[in-house]
Amino acid sequence: MFAAFVFTAATLLPHIAIVAVARETTPLLFAGLDFDFIVVGGGTSGLVAAARLTEDPNIVVGVIEAGQYRPNDPVIEIPQSYAAPGVDPGLDGKPVAYPRGKVVGGSSAINSLIWQRGDKDEYDLWATSFGNGPDWSFSSLLPYFKKVETWSPPPVSPATISSNLSSALRSSHGDNGPVHISYNNFLTDVDKPSVEAASIFGVPDNFSPDLGDPLGFSSIARNVDPVKGIRMYASNSYYTPNSNRQNLILLTGAQVTKLMFGDKTLTAIGVEYTAENETYTAHVSKEVILAAGPGLENLKSYSNLIRVLGSLKTPQILELSGVGNKTLLSHLNIPCLVDLPAVGENLQDHPVTVSDFQLTSSTVTLDDLIFNTTFRLQEQALYNASRQGALTYTPAAMAPTTLQTLFGQQDTEQLITSLITSLALMSQTPLQQVQYEAQVELLKAGSIPFLELVVYPTGGVASEPAPNVSYVTIAVMEVHPFGRGSVHINTSNPLANPVIDPRYLEVPFDAQILIKAAQFAQKWMLTEPMSALVESLSTPSSAVTSAAAWDSFVRAHVQSTNHPLGTTAMAPRSIGGVVDPMLKVYGLNNVRVIDAGIFPFTIGVPLQPTVYAVAEKASDMIKQSWDIKY
Ligand SMILES: Cc1cc2nc3c(=O)[nH]c(=O)nc-3n(C[C@H](O)[C@H](O)[C@H](O)COP(=O)(O)OP(=O)(O)OC[C@H]3O[C@@H](n4cnc5c(N)ncnc54)[C@H](O)[C@@H]3O)c2cc1C
Ligand SMILES: *[C@@H]1O[C@H](CO)[C@@H](O)[C@H](O)[C@H]1NC(C)=O
Ligand SMILES: *[C@@H]1O[C@H](CO)[C@@H](O)[C@H](O)[C@H]1NC(C)=O
Ligand SMILES: *[C@@H]1O[C@H](CO)[C@@H](O)[C@H](O)[C@H]1NC(C)=O
Ligand SMILES: *[C@@H]1O[C@H](CO)[C@@H](O)[C@H](O)[C@H]1NC(C)=O
Ligand SMILES: *[C@@H]1O[C@H](CO)[C@@H](O)[C@H](O)[C@H]1NC(C)=O
Ligand SMILES: *[C@@H]1O[C@H](CO)[C@@H](O)[C@H](O)[C@H]1NC(C)=O
Ligand SMILES: *[C@@H]1O[C@H](CO)[C@@H](O)[C@H](O)[C@H]1NC(C)=O
Repeated sequence: MFAAFVFTAATLLPHIAIVAVARETTPLLFAGLDFDFIVVGGGTSGLVAAARLTEDPNIVVGVIEAGQYRPNDPVIEIPQSYAAPGVDPGLDGKPVAYPRGKVVGGSSAINSLIWQRGDKDEYDLWATSFGNGPDWSFSSLLPYFKKVETWSPPPVSPATISSNLSSALRSSHGDNGPVHISYNNFLTDVDKPSVEAASIFGVPDNFSPDLGDPLGFSSIARNVDPVKGIRMYASNSYYTPNSNRQNLILLTGAQVTKLMFGDKTLTAIGVEYTAENETYTAHVSKEVILAAGPGLENLKSYSNLIRVLGSLKTPQILELSGVGNKTLLSHLNIPCLVDLPAVGENLQDHPVTVSDFQLTSSTVTLDDLIFNTTFRLQEQALYNASRQGALTYTPAAMAPTTLQTLFGQQDTEQLITSLITSLALMSQTPLQQVQYEAQVELLKAGSIPFLELVVYPTGGVASEPAPNVSYVTIAVMEVHPFGRGSVHINTSNPLANPVIDPRYLEVPFDAQILIKAAQFAQKWMLTEPMSALVESLSTPSSAVTSAAAWDSFVRAHVQSTNHPLGTTAMAPRSIGGVVDPMLKVYGLNNVRVIDAGIFPFTIGVPLQPTVYAVAEKASDMIKQSWDIKY
């Protein structure tokens, strides 16, 4: 940890003490150490592996993270930190954007705190269609989902969406893991009415969403410690409690630029990294574990409260090291060690449309934290006193849904018919063929989510908010798009950003269902009891009525939800996999990838619980293969 670390936010919030101290190292000292494992990227997945492997005091693990360590930083930890005491949110009545950048904890430090598991069928495909064997089924992952968590039950109504809690909810969850999971203790005025309005369209309630069936509205868990009222993320759950281990060395502010190999073998012997304009190498005796993320960066988040500046770069590191598409590498004069053209391909994300609606003046949303000083002070006092209230709010009304539920059987069948026609005209990689076959079957069966509805009780996401006005934003995420993007380097300069081509909406079906979803959002918000709270349409305005206008509205407003995955897919090499079922990169002896890039196929909900579970499982596999008993 660099001594140069400056903790600015603490001066704003003197009541939050800095207690954690990381083991001190410098880029030069780090280069002189002997590591058993080097973890590249101290983000969500990387810190899990670092914590688990160092449970054995004889195993020395080095973590190299591009960002800084920011323990006890209220900007990261307070869920609605823009309204926290000491921070002045009133800039022309608009929220302040907090660029959080790369940081120890990675995307888990900046994400929206939604904690959902996917559908059993989605994970089971990893085992079956994608050829990874029964160890990758939902039931094999379930113990790892639990291992991550310490769960607290939802408080009683009215703070929960469904007061009818199933006993299965408790047994779904873990009670001894590093990440504390809880539920909202505060709801805005729009959460329950929006759920009631959606039920008129047949969106069901779900009292047990976490055992492989997430469809419908449920009480949404979140990674917030219910006692401390703070975000639990990889840094304060997996790293800080273990930061005094002598065998766990974290280097911050250093960017890994490539893997180093022995003379004639494809065994990694270390990594090269850059810090403060100097290049260093660190040596490893067992394995390099890549956890730098699947490749998306600098795309605007769907919340204007957060912007993604971190760099998520496992495919880039592989390509810079000569592992990737031989043609691409030869154009850049990078010697090709392993011709693995699937590196950086198969990029999947959850593209989203966002609409917003202006609410009547008495409707209380998160916007009131900004323009209503009485409300803000009241909520700050509540947070000071009990760590509860609006400052701890996270999205509460969310529903993964099928197309059949939202659009009806007949419209869905028409969409599927034209989808099948357009897929037949597309050139498909072998991996796409496997994916599309499964995807179309699941779409027909209506058994997994293809869209996720998200009620976001604030403005400023779809449009610039007017001052002193409350909004509701409806985001509809497309969770199983058919388009596939890519991320590749276009220069051998390791400090340049890779080129991201998300290819949203190229497949007509992807655009069609987002357009229908945006139209549904409007119908939904104009249905009782929500309609009583809606003052007027905002984005899109009432001028958007024709099919052409809806089409251009959606194309102009599609955004990323920052759920990239798939760019180092776990699948057989012959169909476009990059890692095997042990997460080892094909062609290399001792390099594994454990980040979200290994998901071969997207899941119907946000990614973080699955990222943690995969990293827990990966840690166990690594321990087993080196006979580490702890
Ligand atoms: C804005 C946002 C909101 C989200 N909201 C949610 C949500 O509400 N719920 C949910 O479940 N999921 C959400 N997600 C997704 C989820 O957080 C991510 O999928 C998950 O955290 C990814 O983990 P990872 O380990 O793959 O990568 P990361 O956690 O991103 O870790 C990668 C790390 O590697 C570092 N790094 C990159 N390149 C290098 C290099 N060359 N050298 C050294 N270090 C490097 C980065 O700085 C970073 O710390 C969100 C993501 C974002 C960005
Ligand atoms: C509560 O949940 C059970 C299933 O767990 C269901 O049978 C019952 O109808 C639900 N009650 C209400 C009021 O929704
Ligand atoms: C690194 O190099 C750049 C460009 O050469 C320079 O602007 C910058 O000040 C240097 N930074 C450090 C920490 O030396
Ligand atoms: C490899 O890269 C070349 C050049 O960019 C490209 O034309 C080709 O399609 C790529 N191959 C694969 C399998 O992606
Ligand atoms: C501001 O918040 C207070 C406290 O919750 C509330 O009584 C008041 O009506 C609010 N004022 C406006 C203009 O919304
Ligand atoms: C909350 O606590 C902080 C720090 O002690 C203090 O500065 C602030 O005034 C408090 N806010 C309220 C509304 O009580
Ligand atoms: C917003 O409300 C505040 C406090 O009620 C008031 O001072 C301000 O003038 C209002 N701004 C606008 C643009 O109406
Ligand atoms: C790489 O792509 C970026 C756009 O992402 C572009 O600005 C840059 O010029 C490209 N570099 C090369 C060497 O082609």
